[in-house]
Amino acid sequence: MATWRRGGGPRARSLGARRPPLLPPAPDSPLGERGFRGHVVRAQCFRFSEEPGPGAEGAVLEVHVPQVLHLQYGMYVWPCAVVLAQYLWFHRRSLPGKAVLEIGGGVSLPGIMAAKCGAEVILSDSSELPHCLEVCWQSCQMNNLPQVRIIGLTWGHMSQELLALPPQDILLASDVFFEPEDFEDILTTVYFLMQKNPKVQLWSTYQVRSADWSLEALLYKWDMKCVHIPLESFDADKENIAESALPGRHTVEMLVISFAKDSL
Ligand SMILES: C[S@@+](CC[C@H](N)C(=O)[O-])C[C@H]1O[C@@H](n2cnc3c(N)ncnc32)[C@H](O)[C@@H]1O
Repeated sequence: MATWRRGGGPRARSLGARRPPLLPPAPDSPLGERGFRGHVVRAQCFRFSEEPGPGAEGAVLEVHVPQVLHLQYGMYVWPCAVVLAQYLWFHRRSLPGKAVLEIGGGVSLPGIMAAKCGAEVILSDSSELPHCLEVCWQSCQMNNLPQVRIIGLTWGHMSQELLALPPQDILLASDVFFEPEDFEDILTTVYFLMQKNPKVQLWSTYQVRSADWSLEALLYKWDMKCVHIPLESFDADKENIAESALPGRHTVEMLVISFAKDSL
């Protein structure tokens, strides 16, 4: 397990290229189709399970989400989301009662997983992308989670919504580090939330698309440290997770980022 903090330790892994590829992998287990403002919607079921133990059936949890054929990135599930949801599944016993905020959630598979495991969840996406906020809402509907709040939260903006947030325990961010010009905005928002609770952790997955970008200097600047979590430690080092065809052959990395002065 590699740890990066304040310039010490190994170089932070390379992050995303300028943009992710426009089309996601096709949903592989459609449950039906219905319209979303004229766009085709396929409902997909992700089925997370654990190996049965001696004399006991393994736990199973299903998450249903919409996948919308739409050009906006938040309208379908990215490979990173399944890996992050698998991490949550592995840590499900620690989630009940935790305050969890997902940023750049889109379909919000990880946030929905956290809510189904008993966390108090707020989902968010850019306040300038109402379709993405609507798809957050659809995900909640499909999983019968009326208690989950949805807010517009644009990275780097000091909005009323951000200022009014209660302290959070865990921040979720799946495939948000793909546009280097956004990295600092994301960390600004995270830093603000770290001021409210210095023990908050950012659980984030990113897709390796380019060797050119790194978070190291920004983490140092914002007084944060980062631990790289090996995928095999939570059974995510495979092409098919939760009975889906994701993450496929995409290279996904899992990070836990926290305030540098706090010990992980
Ligand atoms: C690659 S998609 C990932 C979606 C989802 N987290 C997943 O992994 O399936 C990036 C997400 O970031 C959101 N986003 C893009 N720019 C944003 C911004 N400036 N502030 C907040 N969210 C943003 C997009 O709407 C989209 O939902």
